[in-house]
Amino acid sequence: MADKATLTYNGKTYELPVVVGTENEAAIDIQHLRAESGLITLDDGYANTGSCISNITFIDGEQGILRYRGYPIEELAEYSTFVETAYLLITGELPNARQLAEFKALLNEHQFIHENMRHHFEGFPADAPPMAILSAMLNTLGCFEPAVARPSDEPNFLASAARLLSKVRAIAAASYRKSMGLPINYPRFDLSYTANFWHLMFCMPNAPCEPDPDIVRALDMIFILHADHEQNCSTSTVRMVASSQANLYASVAAGVCALWGPLHGGANMAVIEMLEGIRARGESVPAFVAKVKDAHARLMGFGHRVYKNFDPRAKIIKQACDRVLSRLGIRDPLLDIAMELEEVALRDPYFIERKLYPNVDFYSGIIMRAAKIPLSMFPVLFAIGRMPGWIANWREVHLNPKARIYRPRQVYNGPTKRPYTMLAARG
Ligand code: SDX
Repeated sequence: MADKATLTYNGKTYELPVVVGTENEAAIDIQHLRAESGLITLDDGYANTGSCISNITFIDGEQGILRYRGYPIEELAEYSTFVETAYLLITGELPNARQLAEFKALLNEHQFIHENMRHHFEGFPADAPPMAILSAMLNTLGCFEPAVARPSDEPNFLASAARLLSKVRAIAAASYRKSMGLPINYPRFDLSYTANFWHLMFCMPNAPCEPDPDIVRALDMIFILHADHEQNCSTSTVRMVASSQANLYASVAAGVCALWGPLHGGANMAVIEMLEGIRARGESVPAFVAKVKDAHARLMGFGHRVYKNFDPRAKIIKQACDRVLSRLGIRDPLLDIAMELEEVALRDPYFIERKLYPNVDFYSGIIMRAAKIPLSMFPVLFAIGRMPGWIANWREVHLNPKARIYRPRQVYNGPTKRPYTMLAARG
């Protein structure tokens, strides 16, 4: 593979180095392009632009490959747990038994939120969007917690990461409980990370309550599948904020805001609303798909900037849907509509030509419904799942010895120079 690219402009030729990653992805390094040629590049939406060199997650969109630190998502979903996957993403290695036990102990040690934080939930209206609360409370968390350890100091940074991972779960559940007028639960030391989340969300202090193991396993898999996804919109936001040396809480709070959008982490909610609309109108799926095409609208849960083949996560979740629903004895008509929608779209040249396939959000809502997660909380569960990926990326920015603030250029296309016009002369 060539290690240089040449660019000819205005009769001059420039040699640009080519960087090749461990999976043979090649990139033209344009760090000195402007200094040498006066040129910058322009790439609306960054579809062709690498923002960084990263060792965390690899995606091959043409092959439908996703690996966290080299481990295939299919194997992690099958054999790992969210806590183990979080450790892998943050440290780069799967934990041994002692490391896993120590990490679990850290998560348990830091699972309570400061009592004074509990009052902040009272300030939000009952119908406040949970993502607004989550972002606000993550920054609030930073006010109550000790400073995050230096990313280079792995043992102490791991404690800081465990603190955030453990408490984001408590914040999410508390926002739901408050919105329902229910007492905020305290976590239990005897439950796993995800079982504790379910307990925090749904158990009542005056009645015995044990999380259903099938629901816990399904949610844990959902968290694993959402744990990281290279330079998506929200992770790039976390890295952008991290690059100014802002603290971890501010960076992930910004990530939550980016994730909130219906084109990103809000899509899991939008998919269910779309399926419920089809069912409520008694609309046939082919008629709905025809409407989407005529309006040049978006089929929610379909398409992806990187995957031009199946999103491997969608495949895994789709397979899990049948298993989880049959174990729970649930028949969800929305699953039937979703599967018919997928079948119709994948046969339709409109979607085939545009390489549109189901993405992670297309089926995830079916499982979250089966787990009794309220629709408004779907993006929040995406954020809980993505937290280890955001922490790992934040750390990677800070561990980069050549770290620079992210500050893209632009092509200016506004008015050229003009003199100030006094108010009286403006007509
Ligand atoms: C996530 O980046 C990540 O990794 C994100 C994520 C992660 O884990 O972090 O994977 C999570 O955000 C998944 C995506 C969830 N969003 C949705 O399901 C919303 C619906 N999907 C789209 O809006 C869209 O597909 C995006 C946002 C996901 C990707 O948009 P792109 O890459 O900018 O695609 P585009 O807008 O350039 O579209 C290319 C063409 C256009 O048609 P033409 O103008 O060429 O005729 O495809 C069409 C689009 O109209 N198109 C769709 C479509 N998505 C794109 N047409 C119908 N339905 C869709 N869903």
